[in-house]
Amino acid sequence: MAYIINDEVIERIHDEANIVDIVSEYLNLKRSGANFVGLCPFHNEKTPSFTVSETKQFFHCFGCGEGGDVISFVMKMENMSFLEASEYLANKLGIPLTEKSEKEKKLELEKEKIYEINREAVRFYYSNLIKNQEALKYIKNRKIKRKTINQFGLGFAEDNWDGVYKYLLGKGYNEKDLEKAGLIGMRRDKTGYYDKFRNRIIFPIIDTKNRVIGFGGRVIDETMPKYLNSRDTLVFTKGNNLYGLNLVRKHSNRERIILVEGYMDVIALFNNGINYAVASLGTAFTSNQAKLLKRYGKEVLICYDSDNAGINATTKAINILRKEGVEAKVILLPLNQDPDDFIKENGIREFEKLIKNPLNYIDYYIFVYKEKYNLSNPDGKIKFTQEIAKILSRIKSPIEKDVYISKISKETGISKEAIEKEVLGRNYNSNTRISKDKYINRGFRHNKDKIEPVNLVLESGHLKAEKLLIKLMIENKSYFDIINRYLAMEDFFNYECSFLAEIIFREYNSNPLLNNIDHQFILNNIKDKEKLDLNTVNEILNQNIHFLSNDMEKTIEDLINTINFSKLKMELDSVTKKIQEIGNNLNGENMEEFKELSLRQLELKNELESYI
Ligand code: CTP
Ligand code: MN
Repeated sequence: MAYIINDEVIERIHDEANIVDIVSEYLNLKRSGANFVGLCPFHNEKTPSFTVSETKQFFHCFGCGEGGDVISFVMKMENMSFLEASEYLANKLGIPLTEKSEKEKKLELEKEKIYEINREAVRFYYSNLIKNQEALKYIKNRKIKRKTINQFGLGFAEDNWDGVYKYLLGKGYNEKDLEKAGLIGMRRDKTGYYDKFRNRIIFPIIDTKNRVIGFGGRVIDETMPKYLNSRDTLVFTKGNNLYGLNLVRKHSNRERIILVEGYMDVIALFNNGINYAVASLGTAFTSNQAKLLKRYGKEVLICYDSDNAGINATTKAINILRKEGVEAKVILLPLNQDPDDFIKENGIREFEKLIKNPLNYIDYYIFVYKEKYNLSNPDGKIKFTQEIAKILSRIKSPIEKDVYISKISKETGISKEAIEKEVLGRNYNSNTRISKDKYINRGFRHNKDKIEPVNLVLESGHLKAEKLLIKLMIENKSYFDIINRYLAMEDFFNYECSFLAEIIFREYNSNPLLNNIDHQFILNNIKDKEKLDLNTVNEILNQNIHFLSNDMEKTIEDLINTINFSKLKMELDSVTKKIQEIGNNLNGENMEEFKELSLRQLELKNELESYI
C-alpha cells in the first residue's frame, strides 16, 4: 500500500459506493420494504437478520449487533484495516489515489522487511528443532504432537551466540535489519551482535494476517528467565496481540474463545483439539486485547493459572472486558494448576466438562472473596458480604439480584433484608446522572431570561468527548438516537457544547424526518449569542469523524464512558473538598451533612473503581 487515503477519498467512497452492491458481492440480499435483508456473514444464522439500508448506506445485524458503513463492512469481511479497506474500495470505484510520501513508503518497506526476516527465522528455527535430539525430547515430554509443532511453527534456537545471525546474514540481510526485527542485540562493548534467543524452544507469534510479528522462547532446562519474548518493534506491540489468534481465526467457529496465560496452555489445548484458545503474551491484559476477544468469540472464558497472581489477573481482565461490554466467564482450575497441567493430569474430557460449566463473574467473585475472608468469624462475614454487595449492586435484573442475595444470605446467615439494604445503599450504577448543579451555585446557571456562561474547566478527554458527540449528533440522526439513549441535553457541560446540544435535541425532537442538521442552520441559530465562542463552535463543526467510523456504537459508548468517568471524578473532588471544609469545623448542625457526604464519597470511589 503506497497511497494516501485522505478525507476527500473517504468522502468520494461514501458518495460513489453503493453498500447494497458491495454487500451483494458476498451474500444474497433480498428487498424487504425500504431495506434489503440477508443471512449475516458475521454469525451463524438460518433466518436473515442482516439488514442493509440503501438510503442510509448502513448495514446492521439484529442477530449479532454488527453494523456500520460500507468501509467497515469491507474491513470486517476482508479482515482489513480502515486504510486497507478504503484503498480496496477506492480502486474498485476508480477513485484516483495520491501516492504516499517517501517517508511513509519507507516505513512500510521497513515493516515488510521485518516480516520477511521473521519468516526466514521461523524456517531456520524449525529446521533446528527437527534435527536436535534434546529439543525434540523436550517437546515429546510435553506431549506435543507433530501436527501441533507444524501448526504453530515451533522451532528451536541452538545453544550458541550467532546461529540466527549467521543464517540470516547468509540470506542477504544486514545487521541493522536483524536488530530492528529484535532477533539480535548489540554486544555491550559494541564490538558486534549476539542472538537474543539461545537454547530455547521458539514460539513464533503470528498475527491474523499470517505475518510473523515476534517470538517467544522457552528454555529447555532450568535456566532463568524461563520465557523470553521479542522486544516491541515496528511490527510488534505486545498489548495489541494475542498468541494463537491466527489459528483461532482460521479454525474456530467463534462460538467461544478461551483466554489463558501461557504459550504452552494454548498449545496444550490445540494439541487436544480445542481450537479456540489464546494467550495474552506475558503482559498485563489490555483493552485492545479485550476488543480482539470480543471479535473472535461470542462467549469469552478466562482460564488463568489458579494461583494468587492468576486470580488477581482474572479480576482485572473481567473488569477490562466489562468495559468493552463483554461479560466474561471463568473456568476455575484446582489450586496452582494451569490448563496445560490440568489436561496432563486429568485428560481433555475433564477440561471440556469445565468449559461447559464456567462461573459467571458474580459466582467467581463469590469464590474469590470466600477465599479471602474467613466466614466463620463475624468480621470476615461482614467484609465478605460488603464486598459481594458491591458486585450485586451492578446487576440490573431484580430477579438475578434476588437469587444472589438469597445465596449470600444462606452462605453467611445474614438476613436477606440486611443484604438487600446493603446492596441498595450502594445503589450506584454507571448511569448515575450527575448534573452541573452539583458543582455550581444553582441560582446562577438558570438566571431566568439570561443564561450565563458556566466556566467549568473540563478535563481534556471529557471536553474532547463532548465535542465529538455533538459533531456525531449533528451529522447523523442514527448517532443521535444512540447517544440520546445515554445522555440528555443537560449532560453536556462545556458551554458551547451545551448550547449546541439544546439546538440539536430540539431540532431532532420536533422534526422526526430529519436525517442530519445543517451547519448553516446551527450558525444562524447562534448568531446573536454573544457569549458563545465562535471559534469553538467552528472547531466542533469541522471535526474529522471519518477516522472513528469502524464501530460507531462502540466508539459512542467509549465517549460516553469517558464523560461519565470524568463527571464522577469531578463530583468526588467537590465532595472531598466539602468534607474537608466541614471537617475542620464540625458541629452538631453540620454532622448530618458530613455523614451524607462521607457516604457519597465512598459510593463515588466504588463507582470509579468499577470503571478501572
Ligand atoms: N512469561 C513471560 N516471561 C516470563 C515468564 C512468563 O513472558 N519470564 C509469560 C509467557 O507467555 C508464559 C506465560 O507468561 O507462557 C505463563 O508463564 P508461566 O505460568 O510461568 O509458565 P507456563 O505457561 O506454566 O510455562 P511452562 O508450562 O512452560 O512451565
Ligand atoms: Mn505450565
